[in-house]
Amino acid sequence: MIALLLFLVLGTTLYWLIRHQYTYWNRRNFPSDPDTTIPCGCLKSVVKHEKSMGVAIYDAYLKTKSPFIGIYLLFRPAVLIRDPKLARQILIQDFSSFHDRGVYVDEKRDPLSCNLFSLRGQSWRSLRQKLTPSFSSGKLKAMFPTSDDIGNKMVEYLNRILPEEGGAEVDIKDILVTYAIDIIGSVIFGLDINSYEDPKNKFRCLVHKARRNNIINANIGMLIFLCPALIKFMVLLGFKNNTAIGLREILKETIEYREKHNIVRKDMVQLMMQLRNTGKINEDDDNWNAKVNTTVGEEKEFTLDHIAAQGFIFYIAGQETTSSAAAFTIFELAQYPDLLARAQNEVKEVLKRHNGQLNYDCLQEMTFLDLCLQETNRKYPFPFLSRECTQDYTLPGTKHVIEKGTPIVIPLLGIHRDAEHFPNPMTYDPDRFSPANANYSDHAYMPFGAGPRQCIALRMGKINSKLGLVKILQNFNVEIMSKREIIIDNHSVGIQPKGGVKIRISKKPKSTN
Ligand code: HEM
Ligand SMILES: *[C@@H]1O[C@H](CO)[C@@H](O)[C@H](O)[C@H]1NC(C)=O
Ligand SMILES: *[C@@H]1O[C@H](CO)[C@@H](O)[C@H](O)[C@H]1NC(C)=O
Ligand SMILES: *[C@@H]1O[C@H](CO)[C@@H](O)[C@H](O)[C@H]1NC(C)=O
Ligand SMILES: *[C@@H]1O[C@H](CO)[C@@H](O)[C@H](O)[C@H]1NC(C)=O
Repeated sequence: MIALLLFLVLGTTLYWLIRHQYTYWNRRNFPSDPDTTIPCGCLKSVVKHEKSMGVAIYDAYLKTKSPFIGIYLLFRPAVLIRDPKLARQILIQDFSSFHDRGVYVDEKRDPLSCNLFSLRGQSWRSLRQKLTPSFSSGKLKAMFPTSDDIGNKMVEYLNRILPEEGGAEVDIKDILVTYAIDIIGSVIFGLDINSYEDPKNKFRCLVHKARRNNIINANIGMLIFLCPALIKFMVLLGFKNNTAIGLREILKETIEYREKHNIVRKDMVQLMMQLRNTGKINEDDDNWNAKVNTTVGEEKEFTLDHIAAQGFIFYIAGQETTSSAAAFTIFELAQYPDLLARAQNEVKEVLKRHNGQLNYDCLQEMTFLDLCLQETNRKYPFPFLSRECTQDYTLPGTKHVIEKGTPIVIPLLGIHRDAEHFPNPMTYDPDRFSPANANYSDHAYMPFGAGPRQCIALRMGKINSKLGLVKILQNFNVEIMSKREIIIDNHSVGIQPKGGVKIRISKKPKSTN
């Protein structure tokens, strides 16, 4: 009897608390979504597994026209910034009030969570400064041959599986994911891997678990954004991230091996060893030495755990984005014969000028492909940017105040597919970005984010997705297919194509090579 009473009281209180939470925006007289559903807010369709989180936020974008609006992410009040000018104000000019992402991080107890994406305030700033030199164009140029080599292995693999005559259907996304994972394994973790020949290698098996689109991964992905406190609690209870731990072991072996045998390789592990041992990454692109410099006091402040945390986030942030950009570009080109022909001709012409030798500089000359990749990154961006308000902020020209601690969501997918900023948004039109046309709102285009926290590896992402694209166009014929759209997997956060990206390709006749 008492138990029942207690249950009723608790239940009623909880119900009342949640109801009350859902009046947050009304109480503050803040414009908000009139038909919010309790208890999931605009994420009801995500909780019911009918939409991905990215698409649910896109839906919220479509529901209104106001420049900003209060929403509920589950029970957490958040602000959706629809107006790209206001978004830029928040990301760039007023960065000091929005310098964190508000995602899970625990500097004291969980060093593996201390990655560049999640770190806050001063810790983030200092790490960002230290890591920036590792993404200079000189460093990327030095890493290029490694990526090129992996691109060639992808070509060899396709040549093995394709018939001599006629085409075959392939899941180009899957093939490019392998390419992107191998690049990260080599360029970032310093491994010598070839997943096309050895698909069960240690690195790939380890990371494979993390990228499966299932309900658990989708929910953890969402909670890292929405409920960092819950993740913190789970970690306290002993919940471990086995992928991150496994990656740390791999890095540990690599670093110990290099230190023991005095090996210097031009990759990211080397630069992070340099950071650990000398306190900084050398601005000089020819200096890859990582010997301990005893005159530096702060050495070893950047530990193995910190190296592993960065390797891990580079993997998460790099493989999906890089492979999608190349795969979606091929998917779109296959639907526009004249665009495909221009892309193929450009690759052919530029390579001819360079005697068939593909290198870093030659890639820069393929300017139409740049337009294509820009257009792909417009139509298929990561669906939203996120920030946390770090001090009370009055929205410019209004009386509305965003309270410290409130999540900010910038619905990139909505902005990038809005006809107001990009006429005929669902049409794949690389020429919209050509300087002669430029029929789009420049400020609305943010595929790599904006401001001090924009993608640190934007150059690396562009180069590797372009390289993957060039390898396919250079070596294979892509068959034209009818117009279609990607079907987005309900269990993903970003734009994960359900069933992959299927296209038909064939070997080039020997004479035209
Ligand atoms: C085509 C490829 C890529 C795209 C479209 C992309 C996109 C993005 C976006 C939209 C953000 C958030 C920016 C913001 O909040 O303002 C971001 C951040 C980030 N990206 Fe990328 N990315 C790509 C490739 C990569 C690669 C290859 C790496 C690592 C090797 C990487 C590492 C990161 C990191 C560490 C951050 C967090 C930066 C910080 O908070 O300081 N990205 N990226
Ligand atoms: C997502 O869920 C909705 C509703 O259950 C369903 O109609 C749709 O087919 C699903 N989409 C995918 C790609 O699974
Ligand atoms: C653990 O790692 C997986 C990838 O292995 C990642 O998707 C997830 O966000 C991480 N979870 C936590 C609790 O940090
Ligand atoms: C160690 O660091 C100091 C100060 O940055 C520098 O002057 C010196 O050349 C470094 N020594 C080595 C061996 O790199
Ligand atoms: C694109 O061009 C049309 C016609 O010139 C113009 O009305 C429209 O405002 C332009 N849109 C953008 C986003 O620049």
